Amino acid sequence: MLPEKLTQALNDQFNNELQAAHSYTAMAAYFSEKGYHGFANFYLVQSREEHFHAMKFYEYLVTMDEKPVVQSLSEPKNNYVSAMDVVESSLAQEKEVTSNIYALVTLADELQEHATLSFLDWFIEEQMEEEKMFRDIITRLKGAGEGGEYFLKMNDEFAARKLEE
Ligand SMILES: [Fe+2]
Ligand SMILES: [Fe+2]
Repeated sequence: MLPEKLTQALNDQFNNELQAAHSYTAMAAYFSEKGYHGFANFYLVQSREEHFHAMKFYEYLVTMDEKPVVQSLSEPKNNYVSAMDVVESSLAQEKEVTSNIYALVTLADELQEHATLSFLDWFIEEQMEEEKMFRDIITRLKGAGEGGEYFLKMNDEFAARKLEE
């Protein structure tokens, strides 16, 4: 068992990760509609990654003899004006998740819950990688007109992205 406050915070993050998956699926749809199937694939894989993150929290709660509780999802943003808009929103979303993870670490530290601190280490690393990934895509998009030659090259590259677990 875990302190109630920590269980609640971990459960909230379980649901935040599901919400992130939901949001990335909506971002994929921006690209699918435009016919940029490589970018769409990138975002669909990203959505599955977030679901995988959610399930890490699920499993951790179960391991600690707590029950995961699924909450309702809210409607994600479904209207984007450009590829850059999508990627900038992705980075903003990841920064938000990073601060959620940091708040969880702070709470676990206050409560001296060392198992939870150890569990959360993986997420600290993951957030560093995800923020960097989106920052790098923003840099590349700055030099590429949407639909232009370099953009289509990125689209081909993203078509090959597969789920890594
Ligand atoms: Fe995540
Ligand atoms: Fe993420």
